[in-house]
Amino acid sequence: MKPESSLSRNNTELASMNSSSFLARRTTIPVLRRAARACTACNLWRTARQTVFGEGTSKAMIMIVGEQPGNEEDRFGRPFVGPAGKLLTQALAEVGIDRATVYVTNVVKHFKWSASEHGKRRIHKKPRQSEIRACYPWLESELQVVKPKILVCMGATAAQALLGKDVSVTRIHGQTVESPHARFAIATMHPSSILRAADAASRQRKTDEFINDLKRVALLAAKNQAA
Ligand code: URA
Repeated sequence: MKPESSLSRNNTELASMNSSSFLARRTTIPVLRRAARACTACNLWRTARQTVFGEGTSKAMIMIVGEQPGNEEDRFGRPFVGPAGKLLTQALAEVGIDRATVYVTNVVKHFKWSASEHGKRRIHKKPRQSEIRACYPWLESELQVVKPKILVCMGATAAQALLGKDVSVTRIHGQTVESPHARFAIATMHPSSILRAADAASRQRKTDEFINDLKRVALLAAKNQAA
């Protein structure tokens, strides 16, 4: 019998893998980030300054996913560096999680905005399903490279993109739910919703809930570290 050539062996190996796991084995976050700079899969690149890719170590145990970059993130090209990001960093510190150990990203990698009434400010606009779908392969690739043990979805866009389209963050926040993407997945509110709270009392209530959810994440991380 003719010996199997290394080429046909490679082809067999390739055929038994799906294309995304093949890519994940051979790619890295910096490679993905560079490739995403040229992404035109939806129209958001036309009005955003740049692609804002995820950031953090690819060995992170925890991956945190938000909706899309905001005005500051679009200026600086980094996720969660604006007011919501500052709140997130503080909240993580409060529960004992150093943000530098976490991988932080968004469902959509371009800032979607419309001009304010006098054209002075860029106002965040919610991404459409078609934009979320177009961007999803980037998030999927990040998940495959980082392989987080704990996936934290902040806000409805992230929770519905990753945990199911009918998920209600209000209903399930703070609970661990099943996910194909990580051993533990958990939804919590988006820090922007705390910043938008109507009054001091509701801001405090939301902050407390957010911190409680993140305490759960910290506990899971500690258990996982010990295991
Ligand atoms: N809101 C998000 O969802 N992501 C960011 O990076 C900043 C604000």
